[in-house]
Amino acid sequence: MKISNKFVAATVALLLAAPVIAQQSGKDVYTKVCATCHATGLAGAPRYGNGADWAPRVATGLPALYQSALKGTPKGMPAKGGHLTLPDGEVKAAVDYMLASVKGAVKVAEPKKAEEAKEAKEVKEPKKAEAKPAPVAAAPAPAAAPAPVRAASPAPVAQTTASGEDINSFNRLLKPASKRNLPPPEDGIHDPANDGTHALQPPLAAFASLPKSMSGNRINWVEALGQKKINPRYDRVDPKAEPIVMDLNIVREVKGSMPDVVYPHKQHTEWLDCSNCHPAIFVPQKGANQISMAAILLGEKCGVCHGKVAFPVSECRNCHSKKKEMARSPAPAAAAK
Ligand code: HEC
Ligand code: HEC
Ligand code: HEC
Ligand code: HEC
Repeated sequence: MKISNKFVAATVALLLAAPVIAQQSGKDVYTKVCATCHATGLAGAPRYGNGADWAPRVATGLPALYQSALKGTPKGMPAKGGHLTLPDGEVKAAVDYMLASVKGAVKVAEPKKAEEAKEAKEVKEPKKAEAKPAPVAAAPAPAAAPAPVRAASPAPVAQTTASGEDINSFNRLLKPASKRNLPPPEDGIHDPANDGTHALQPPLAAFASLPKSMSGNRINWVEALGQKKINPRYDRVDPKAEPIVMDLNIVREVKGSMPDVVYPHKQHTEWLDCSNCHPAIFVPQKGANQISMAAILLGEKCGVCHGKVAFPVSECRNCHSKKKEMARSPAPAAAAK
């Protein structure tokens, strides 16, 4: 089939162009990174091997799919699956690997055709033009932008703006090593023209003695506080204010194989006021709130903070920390705990 020949040729060219020598295969990347969501369809991810899931997406053309995989999408596909250090070529190879799983079922439009194709053009062009790392601003969106999916939620917090990229702001915390914890004059936040900026201790030096984590700015802030390595002021205005710490864990049972979620009040109320969450984000009643991964990925519920100012969604086990009590077949009495 002529399409697939071109497709293969283009893919090979891309792979050859990739600067990395010891490259992981598309399968490796899929297994390590993408399968988390694409094996089960988590948060609406098109499932591996499921032609029906992929058909409408494939219709937009290979370049658009690559673009989604590299830059993320407003509906929950994190840029590079949340692993921003992956070379572009490996991410594309993982896309190819997933597409190969539905090869018989769907046709991949060749790049040229796809661009001319139907109204897809209209929708895509303006979107592309704006595809840049998004600020977290809740700016009013241009009319052409795709409408966000939103769960009916009473939370007054800005979750998604229609300008697509914003909700992917959780990727803000998934910077490559070279962009992480830059010295104040280079961080894009502090004014390099101000002498005070140069007097500030660079974060790398300041963080050196703090306990490490695998995500965000690589500091385990909960532990840093627990070990009294930091002593943040609880109230900006009142230096004497003490937090009202409440030690109450709420377990949210998760359907399926993921461990249950333990929401700890203690670790949150050491930093936050009750009013930061109640009642705007959560009704203070166990089980009264509908929480889903999809909502979190869209920046709602736990996602109001996690991925923005607290550890990101990629750290599954931080939240899904309680092993299910396996409803095993009647266990021999000796095995009972
Ligand atoms: C945390 C979950 C998650 C991970 C990890 C993830 N994806 Fe996705 N992906 C999604 C979701 C959700 C969608 C559907 C988003 C949408 O409809 O815009 C999606 C959609 C896609 C699409 C289709 C985009 C489109 O325009 O229709 C591609 C391609 C894709 N992902 C590639 C990848 C690759 C490659 C990886 C691994 C490097 C990966 N994804 C990892 C959640 C994930
Ligand atoms: C980071 C967000 C957050 C903060 C801050 C927070 N809570 Fe909660 N709270 C929750 C969540 C999430 C639940 C569980 C809701 C559910 O299961 O639907 C909850 C549940 C509760 C419940 C219901 C318990 C039950 O067994 O039904 C009470 C009471 C409560 N919180 C009080 C407080 C108080 C008091 C504070 C301040 C000292 C506080 N919360 C701070 C997120 C928060
Ligand atoms: C208002 C902001 C906010 C919301 C909403 C929020 N968190 Fe957090 N969470 C934080 C902050 C801040 C920390 C501490 C910093 C960090 O770990 O990145 C934290 C830490 C945690 C920790 C780490 C505890 C530890 O011992 O390391 C867990 C687990 C957690 N949150 C789960 C949740 C879950 C589950 C939800 C939703 C039910 C949620 N959080 C909602 C702000 C929030
Ligand atoms: C910030 C905390 C947090 C993190 C990080 C997190 N989850 Fe969740 N997850 C939740 C909460 C809360 C629920 C809702 C539980 C419930 O039904 O009450 C949930 C639900 C789920 C569900 C059930 C289906 C659904 O969508 O509600 C799955 C599957 C899941 N998570 C997978 C994952 C995977 C995989 C990761 C890592 C990529 C992850 N989660 C990371 C908090 C988190």
